[in-house]
Amino acid sequence: MNYGARHVAIIMDGNGRWAAARGEPRVVGHRAGLEALRRIVRAAPSLGIEYLSVYAFSTENWKRPAEEVDALMDLLVEYLRSEVDELDQEHVRMLFLGDSSALPERCQREMEIAAARTADNDGLKLAIAMNYGGRDEIVRAVRRVLEAGLDPEALDEDQFGGHLDTAGMPDPDLVIRASGEMRLSNFLLWQTAYAEIYVAPQYWPDFDHDVLQEALEAFLRRERRYGGLS
Ligand code: IPE
Ligand code: IPE
Ligand code: MG
Repeated sequence: MNYGARHVAIIMDGNGRWAAARGEPRVVGHRAGLEALRRIVRAAPSLGIEYLSVYAFSTENWKRPAEEVDALMDLLVEYLRSEVDELDQEHVRMLFLGDSSALPERCQREMEIAAARTADNDGLKLAIAMNYGGRDEIVRAVRRVLEAGLDPEALDEDQFGGHLDTAGMPDPDLVIRASGEMRLSNFLLWQTAYAEIYVAPQYWPDFDHDVLQEALEAFLRRERRYGGLS
């Protein structure tokens, strides 16, 4: 079934609360969150999704205890190492959003391998946002524009968009946030100008095909006007 949402962006939130509800440490929630990511990536193509962007680590998440930050970095490495073969076979192309230069070397290495391995794939585009912040992305894009010595009068929205981490990707049609929180937390600020927003009550580790389908069904009922009249 195709719901007309080409690009779905997900804020994978609530891992810590999921774990706390079970009396487990937060990292157990992050591990369960990784399983949810595996499920959702498998489910996405059959629901007509062409681009799936997932918020894995924000520029603000460095504020967390070093132990938790390290665990999240390790989980990224584990995900990439364990999934890249299968994702490649499924024609998934892996992309990364955010400032990877500040990530540990081991993460950067796996990200480069995964991106290179899957670069020619024409299936689902999976964009993992790691050390990503919408404001940071815009500032980095402005730097690139200035470095390119562009004529200020020549700069327009399309051209600016081409300097963002999401260059070449369509804007998200739908942003899904897990765990009931109603905020963007610095995710894809430029790109979500006209995205529909769906807040799911479930914590991210409880996400599966059916939750994703519910979000898409809600999306289908939305009336998108883009400032015009319907
Ligand atoms: C989302 O879950 C994962 C990351 C932000 C890395 P949280 O860790 O934010 O879980 P809660 O929001 O504290 O429950
Ligand atoms: C947003 O979740 C970032 C990710 C899901 C990676 P947070 O848990 O960091 O957001 P806040 O702090 O609740 O806004
Ligand atoms: Mg959170």
